[in-house]
Amino acid sequence: MSEGVDFAQRIAEDKAIRTHLDKIGRKILIMSGKGGVGKTTITVNLANALVDSGCTVGILDTDLHGPNVAKMLGCEAGILTTEDGGETFYPVEARPGLKVMSLAFAISEPDSPIVWRGPMKIAAIRQFLAQAEWGELDYLLIDSPPGTGDEQLTVCQTIPELTGTIIVTTPQEVAILDARRSVNFSRKMGVAILGVVENMSGLICPGCKTEIPIFGIGGGKKMADQMSVPFLGRVPLEVPLMEAEDAGKSYLSLQPESVSAKAIKDIALLINSGTAVSSHRSTEFAGTAACAPSACSSCSSNCSSRKGV
Ligand SMILES: Nc1ncnc2c1ncn2[C@@H]1O[C@H](COP(=O)(O)OP(=O)(O)OP(=O)(O)O)[C@@H](O)[C@H]1O
Ligand SMILES: [Mg+2]
Repeated sequence: MSEGVDFAQRIAEDKAIRTHLDKIGRKILIMSGKGGVGKTTITVNLANALVDSGCTVGILDTDLHGPNVAKMLGCEAGILTTEDGGETFYPVEARPGLKVMSLAFAISEPDSPIVWRGPMKIAAIRQFLAQAEWGELDYLLIDSPPGTGDEQLTVCQTIPELTGTIIVTTPQEVAILDARRSVNFSRKMGVAILGVVENMSGLICPGCKTEIPIFGIGGGKKMADQMSVPFLGRVPLEVPLMEAEDAGKSYLSLQPESVSAKAIKDIALLINSGTAVSSHRSTEFAGTAACAPSACSSCSSNCSSRKGV
């Protein structure tokens, strides 16, 4: 009897997930094998770049133990509104065009650890997907914790038409080794790989502006070539980028001409043009734009160098 009820509940949940996600154009999982390489940084800055270019974006934070998205977007004080006796959640609007769903909004004490085993994490992510009312969106970016565990597996198995994964790595060997596992995970799950981002690719000295290869340079590109997946670009370490994130401000707005901001805007253009997709699985994604970008990162206008429009 209880199994029957569970089964019926699961079917109802799957139906709700489909209903909500059908209104979203592209759903992209941002992942890496290693912690601290910049998944959340790439997620929030990519989201800001896409919103700046006219897209509507949602971010689903599936890092339940360390939900940092809201803090980096300066909306951690946001309150989830609910309807239908708590059955429907409305994600927090970080800025016009950008919505966020995170466990951070449901925790009253930010210093309290979330001590959950796998089944609770799976249930929480499914609940986010089934009950969050995003409305119409061009993109849903899904931030994830390090690794290829419950969270990534749940996203890949639950989201009906996951557009693909973006794999973030730093250039050094230990990070690359873990990133290779993320590539193979995506392949195993039958999910397209939109590409690899090499983050912390050199440090731009705040004083003299020269580039110091603190973790090396080029490791992510080399790995992408070896594994025949697209390379999306390299984003250097810049101290003001970290400071902007700590302050919950958009680095792209604060320092639009910085090397990192330009690199992230170029990655957003590449993603939005639909040119980045691994060859092992062709999808409708290839060659199409989710929304028409309004600006080119080089000249900040509607110039002809925009790709895929
Ligand atoms: N390119 C960069 N320039 C400057 N600081 C950066 C850059 N990339 C990431 N950081 C900083 O490094 C720290 C780790 O980044 P982030 O939290 O994005 O990594 P993560 O992969 O999401 O970590 P976790 O595995 O814990 O989720 C943050 O303080 C962030 O602001
Ligand atoms: Mg993170």
